[in-house]
Amino acid sequence: MKFDSQMIIEKAKEIPPLPQIATRVLSIMRKDDYSLSEVVYLVSKDLALTAEILKMANSAIFSPKEEIKDLRHAIVILGEKNLKNLLIALSMKSYFYNDESKIELAKKIWEHSLCVAILMRILAKEVNVDTGDAFLLGILHDIGKVIFLLTTPFYDEIVNITKKSNTNSIEIESNLIGFNHAEIGGYVLSKWGLPELFYEKVYYHHVASMYKKDDLITLLVLSNCLVNRKNIGLNIFDEEAFNLANEKLKFSDELISEALSHFDEIYAVEKELFEGA
Ligand SMILES: [Fe+2]
Ligand SMILES: [Fe+2]
Repeated sequence: MKFDSQMIIEKAKEIPPLPQIATRVLSIMRKDDYSLSEVVYLVSKDLALTAEILKMANSAIFSPKEEIKDLRHAIVILGEKNLKNLLIALSMKSYFYNDESKIELAKKIWEHSLCVAILMRILAKEVNVDTGDAFLLGILHDIGKVIFLLTTPFYDEIVNITKKSNTNSIEIESNLIGFNHAEIGGYVLSKWGLPELFYEKVYYHHVASMYKKDDLITLLVLSNCLVNRKNIGLNIFDEEAFNLANEKLKFSDELISEALSHFDEIYAVEKELFEGA
């Protein structure tokens, strides 16, 4: 098996950035004096996006007193930060469902990413990091695996080798390709113009020396391990990484099992919200 790392980087550059509506809404919202009407107008042009935003505003996370049927009202309920994160998360979904021939693997990576995102959002308050940032980082963290899927015909082989050898994919990727999914993921997100907060943490999410320096990365590592322990995704449970992360976070067994049962409830609902292409 031979990988051409230069070719992968070149191909990765060609992957289209976020869909136009999401990009336009995000750029409008970057201005201090943007108008809500402008955002509502743009979003309303995309029916699927409108439906997802209404669903999200009516979901258990916001639990409004009455059903919200109006897009403007839904956007107000979500708030600026949640709307931005939702736009990026929903746009991301399209990458995972991009290639029919690899749909099974892509679905597994998406399911894993969504689970890590949900668990991170639950645990975020314990480490005092922003819940929206935590959720979005969970969605984005393994985007490099999707990029490998889209740019090389051999990534499923790496997945098989990883499974057979019972190791983490990181080393195998680095040996065979020259860089790993965290590195290419961070690189592509920076090229797409995502904030440094995200691409930097994605880039370092498998570097053990970073676990003690950055709470958001540490929370990502811990949540990633717990989701793998539930067997959701392509990787096995990495006990060493888990212990290293929890040395810093110091979560008790009770707190973790409470978070995991809360996770099961939320996942049952949100799975539907984010499912499908
Ligand atoms: Fe990863
Ligand atoms: Fe992961």
